[in-house]
Amino acid sequence: MEIVTRMMDGSLPYDVKEARPPVSGAPLRQDDKIEHLQRVPVFQGCSQRQLRALARITDVVEQPAGTILTRAGEPGTEFFLIVDGTVRAEVSAQKQVQLGPGEFFGEMSLIDGGPRSATVVAETPIRLLVIDRRNFWSLLAEVPRLTHTLLVTLSRRVRQAEQSLKG
Ligand code: CMP
Repeated sequence: MEIVTRMMDGSLPYDVKEARPPVSGAPLRQDDKIEHLQRVPVFQGCSQRQLRALARITDVVEQPAGTILTRAGEPGTEFFLIVDGTVRAEVSAQKQVQLGPGEFFGEMSLIDGGPRSATVVAETPIRLLVIDRRNFWSLLAEVPRLTHTLLVTLSRRVRQAEQSLKG
């Protein structure tokens, strides 16, 4: 079966890296990547050395509104930081959460190896920093502040989930 057909019918694990069309033209220059990295608040205290290290392990991806970035129940291989635009995390039939610039998603599957907990869809055209599983832990080692932010955000998401169960 054609790879695109398998993506469409859901029989192939879906993450945006595999889904996006091949990059045409010159790849993004290191300096341009660093410019995008510097716009994400959690990287704003990083030194030039750290930013260069981050630029080596990060892809900058642009996708149109409506792109499905993660699908609930499927394996996940990438972590996403939003540079521009907004996404909608469809956590359950009753709960949808909007995430915007500076926020992130896709951390849960990379941390525990479990399937994606929510479908995440681009609400607007978006620009994302994408880090694959292989480089995720190097990213956290390079930027301890991100680990702190991840833990705070995860605690908040657990609390919200518990609230909606009670609710
Ligand atoms: P992951 O499970 O890897 O893929 C789907 C992502 O949706 C998940 O990681 C989180 O980043 C995000 N997500 C899940 N639940 C919530 C929530 N309650 N609020 C915000 N984002 C969430």
